[in-house]
Amino acid sequence: MRKNIVAGNWKMNTTMQEGVALADQIKNLLIKSPNCEVVLCVPFTHLTSIAQTVNGSIIAIGAENCSDKESGAYTGEISAAMVRSTGAKYVIIGHSERRTYYGETAEILKEKVLLALKNDLIPVFCIGEVKEERQADKQNDIVKAQLEKSVFNLSVDDFSKIVFAYEPVWAIGTGLTATPEQAQQMHACIRQLIAEKYGNTIAQNTSILYGGSCNAQNAATLFANHDVDGGLIGSASLKATDFKAIIDAI
Ligand code: PGA
Repeated sequence: MRKNIVAGNWKMNTTMQEGVALADQIKNLLIKSPNCEVVLCVPFTHLTSIAQTVNGSIIAIGAENCSDKESGAYTGEISAAMVRSTGAKYVIIGHSERRTYYGETAEILKEKVLLALKNDLIPVFCIGEVKEERQADKQNDIVKAQLEKSVFNLSVDDFSKIVFAYEPVWAIGTGLTATPEQAQQMHACIRQLIAEKYGNTIAQNTSILYGGSCNAQNAATLFANHDVDGGLIGSASLKATDFKAIIDAI
């Protein structure tokens, strides 16, 4: 059985102190065990402190990125092993903001996924089309190519550890959300592509999250879809009560 997951992606927001306070608020709101795994993906600088804040709670933490290099002379980079050593369990890889603003290619992402897995981190691998690709009805081909170029090289064992996030780029931070029908259609397409490559059992056990302007108002209708197994939440994860409402929507 696949897991439902609600993961926050804080992006480049909050100072360390603000981040610890936010994690503490979220922890205090989750007195009752939720119906899903709850993950906070936070800036590198916050990982250790937030790991301590949420210690003993059901909240898992994750990084928003990691290096495509193992270790050594790469000034300013943070390796997967470093991320893991903070207590993080997850790492977002391939977010469209990294692909677009930092030139992360499919090849680079492939390396990152391998290093994350080697260091016992669960990659939350992001895929999705831009507006022009959606308008040209190319979204299925785009996600297929993204999977083929960065993760379909993996062994069955490694592949089965990955979580996916379908994030239509036109919906990220824009207030435009995919309709529940669009989300379901794409999640089913991704699951079908996984089934063709790795078989139906692996496909059925893979968690595929939706991301892109998912909020307290629309989460329930998105999550109600059979192939939507939770969400990767940006701006709405920065307000504890909104994030809690999204968790409750599962
Ligand atoms: P958003 O971001 O919820 O603010 O649209 C989602 C994401 O980028 O993961």
